[in-house]
Amino acid sequence: MTTLERIIQICKQRGFIFNSAEIYGGLKGFYDFGHLGVLLKNNIKNLWLKDVVFSGENIFLVESALIGPRKIYEASGHLENFYDLLVECKNCHNRFRADHLLKGEYGEVKIKDNRALCPLCEGELTEQRTFNLMFKTNVGPVEELSSEAYLRPETAQGIFYNFKNVLTTMRAKLPFGIAQIGKSFRNEITPRNFIFRMREFEQMELEFFTYPEEANKWFDYWAEKRFNFYLKLGFKDKNIRQRVYSKEELAHYSSATIDIEYNFPWGFDELEGIANRTDYDLKSHNKFSESELFYFDEKRKEKIIPYVIEPSVGIERLLLAVLLEFYDEDKIEGETRKIFRFPPSLAPFKVAVFPLLNNRPELVSKARKVYSLVKKNFQAFYDENGSIGRRYRRQDEIGTPFCLTIDFQTLEDETITIRNRDTTKQERIKITNINSRIRKLINKFR
Ligand code: GAP
Repeated sequence: MTTLERIIQICKQRGFIFNSAEIYGGLKGFYDFGHLGVLLKNNIKNLWLKDVVFSGENIFLVESALIGPRKIYEASGHLENFYDLLVECKNCHNRFRADHLLKGEYGEVKIKDNRALCPLCEGELTEQRTFNLMFKTNVGPVEELSSEAYLRPETAQGIFYNFKNVLTTMRAKLPFGIAQIGKSFRNEITPRNFIFRMREFEQMELEFFTYPEEANKWFDYWAEKRFNFYLKLGFKDKNIRQRVYSKEELAHYSSATIDIEYNFPWGFDELEGIANRTDYDLKSHNKFSESELFYFDEKRKEKIIPYVIEPSVGIERLLLAVLLEFYDEDKIEGETRKIFRFPPSLAPFKVAVFPLLNNRPELVSKARKVYSLVKKNFQAFYDENGSIGRRYRRQDEIGTPFCLTIDFQTLEDETITIRNRDTTKQERIKITNINSRIRKLINKFR
């Protein structure tokens, strides 16, 4: 079993991630998240908010609608430009993204009479055709052009069309940013690699508005800041790198893009993108909506259409990188231990609380008291089922950094043991010091 397969198995067994609608056969590219997955995603969001929104000044949040009228995507260029090239096998009817097919991502591609053959059955492939990645719907009971609407393919457009709302209500001054966390939808031709490429996913995006002449400076600033975010999180140097796009690779709105790539099991691949979107989007929305999205500079006494620097990352893709980065196996008492060495800031539970035995009411009631003491301060989990060794293993497997055990000595001297996930070492501490001790241990982690 590969590491990725092992991780997928743990995610399902332990309640991080499930295939969506599995009892109906599932739907490719869609996933559901269990308690641990939701907690882990929330931790990722909070760390991003801290790094991108709250650590600086003048960065404001919005939450825009998921479905928007056709006009938005005419203006943004997504209707015209947001497509992949698709080929289909005339024999087995599998469909492939032409660029991925040629890179060998579906397997070895044989060439006959100058034409690529199906990598799965060597059948003849159709000519390539364009395939728009947006999900289309209609709003209201009548299906006509004026009711045509789209599920957003990026959160960014909701930021651009709200530019003036935020600018005026927050009395923002350049440079300033508008950030958004939320769902995006893309009808990917071949969703793959677990949660790496999905059809419904969440993005965390910042649109940072600057004076045009300062855009390059801010592009470098955000590229560096976002790269350092991963190092601070505990990603190993060797597993992340930056890659500068060539002119041919740039999206229709971008004048420069840098990807932060992670070393996924299939090789380095995009984790986050940082793009210079210039004034493309605001200008385009001005044209299509006949509104005036601009910044009036009091000092210069002139209207400015700001340039935009955009760091954008998918939460699930980052979640996959986190799972891969912190998964480990070691040997304990002759057994292989599966473990997520999450830093406490990411761990779904910070502490677990156990009575040594579940058939001794005095231990159980003390353990429940300790649990209610710690759960006010930390995400905590109470468990009294199975042997103490099994309970430790279960917490190791979901990445809980600290386990508290209430034993017979507790009844005598009001102390409990605190076990460190990574070293498996235990120390005894007084129940009265429990919250401050956990706080200290979390702070000195790494
Ligand atoms: N607003 C810019 C934008 O959307 P993108 O490179 O298409 O740019 C940004 O997407 C990030 O969103 C990617 O770096 C990736 O982390 C995530 N992402 C994009 N498509 C995804 C998909 N199908 N499934 C999961 N995450 C995806």
